[in-house]
Amino acid sequence: MFDRPHNLKESSDTQMHDESRQGEALMIERPKQYSGRKLYIESYGCAMNFADSEIVASLMLDMGFETTPQYKEADVIFINTCSIRDNAEQRVRNRLREFSAAKKKKPGMTIGVLGCMAERLKSKFLEEEKLVDIVIGPDSYRDLPNLLSQADEGMRAVNVLLSREETYADINPVRLNSNGISAFVSIMRGCDNMCSFCVVPFTRGRERSRDPESIVKEASELFEQGYREVTLLGQNVDSYKWAEGAVNFANLLELVAQINPLLRVRFSTSHPKDITDEVLHTMKKYENICNHIHLPVQSGNSRVLELMNRTYTREWYIERIDTIKRLIPDCSISTDIIIGFCTETEEEHQDTLSLMEYAQFDFAYMYTYSERPGTLAAKRFEDDIPEEVKTRRFNEVLKMQQSCSLKRLEQHIGKTHQVLIDGYSKKSDKDFSGKSEHNITVVFPANENNKPGDYVNVEIVRCTPATLIGQII
Ligand code: SAH
Ligand code: SF4
Ligand code: F3S
Repeated sequence: MFDRPHNLKESSDTQMHDESRQGEALMIERPKQYSGRKLYIESYGCAMNFADSEIVASLMLDMGFETTPQYKEADVIFINTCSIRDNAEQRVRNRLREFSAAKKKKPGMTIGVLGCMAERLKSKFLEEEKLVDIVIGPDSYRDLPNLLSQADEGMRAVNVLLSREETYADINPVRLNSNGISAFVSIMRGCDNMCSFCVVPFTRGRERSRDPESIVKEASELFEQGYREVTLLGQNVDSYKWAEGAVNFANLLELVAQINPLLRVRFSTSHPKDITDEVLHTMKKYENICNHIHLPVQSGNSRVLELMNRTYTREWYIERIDTIKRLIPDCSISTDIIIGFCTETEEEHQDTLSLMEYAQFDFAYMYTYSERPGTLAAKRFEDDIPEEVKTRRFNEVLKMQQSCSLKRLEQHIGKTHQVLIDGYSKKSDKDFSGKSEHNITVVFPANENNKPGDYVNVEIVRCTPATLIGQII
């Protein structure tokens, strides 16, 4: 456990009892409770979790902590966790074992588990992982000062209350591992959909939207600090709603796009049942709203979609894709696919492949189904597709996507795209790397006139399986 920082208590007592020293005491900045203590924070899972870690870092810095990239030298280790699939949880457990070994060498260390796994397992975590001191769910981060002092006193601390209101709207996130150019801005929390495979409604609670004013303020401040791209985040951004629907997602998108034409605006994730034509028209109206939509399909078969409780059919999804391509011909579309969901037949799997061929997704995140305890699917259906069948189907889906991605990339050859430079290529510092508005990485020779954060026009000359290669024109 930590020693309680004694100087805090002493200095406040002195101020109270020795009037003659009051002026002097006022001039000296009062040490914060945890001044000089080091925080190491590691995040797993979706962008929302990474954005939450930036809120946590902000709260911790307010208490006097500073961050360190070395967990072995930290006083507090936080691991912000994901429960979406079993392997995500296993990765966290392995990592906790490494942290626990470090704690044995440095007994004063505090280990905290944050995020979705904390919410799912609650106090069970303390029983399962003996060296964990704090378990804190995604809506309870404001309680950190409390939990830390409980941990200091040798108690093991848990707060996993979910909230219907909390959006952390007033907290200014501390940008962690930032390139100073792109940032996430959280616009809502939780999810009211009940996709039968999904643990998120249980770990993140009810859906609630953040007030638009604080969103616009955060994005404007980022722009003033030199950021050139914000990604508006929510599990289902299309159901963003403020003041009884007076501000919907299309309105919010417009407000953020109006901050400055040089600020690129992205968003994730859209839901096929909710994405409106109004959003598409807003995207069309503003050059700085990037032409890219992440629209998870999950399956190409209507019966499977119904079991998944996605509330749309294959035909509905195809109609949405057609409309996007009609209104914004240059739009890139990406997706998520679950392979081997309960009772999925060979023909139904073929439907997923044929839908992929039809949609020609620019990229896709593909997962074999992983049963999550407590979800509707776990209660209602048997996870009956054998692992080797899931793997074989996964490889077929992967192969299909690789061929679609390559075809889509090749279509960019010969075109000129506006690219936001976000740094140097991983392979060579003689090359800049950046993103096209389609969210595709573009690599091209660096020059002295430009720097990260600049927009440049790049002519695409060739591609690799995941990257466009070009030159500034
Ligand atoms: N809110 C987003 C995504 C949330 S989770 C949406 O509605 O699409 C990200 C992706 O993880 C999901 O789109 C889904 O493809 C995948 N996923 C969720 N639960 C899963 C499970 N139990 N097994 C495998 N993949 C899962
Ligand atoms: Fe999960 Fe569905 Fe909500 Fe996405 S929309 S977070 S998949 S329940
Ligand atoms: Fe994982 Fe929680 Fe995100 S389960 S995907 S970290 S909302």
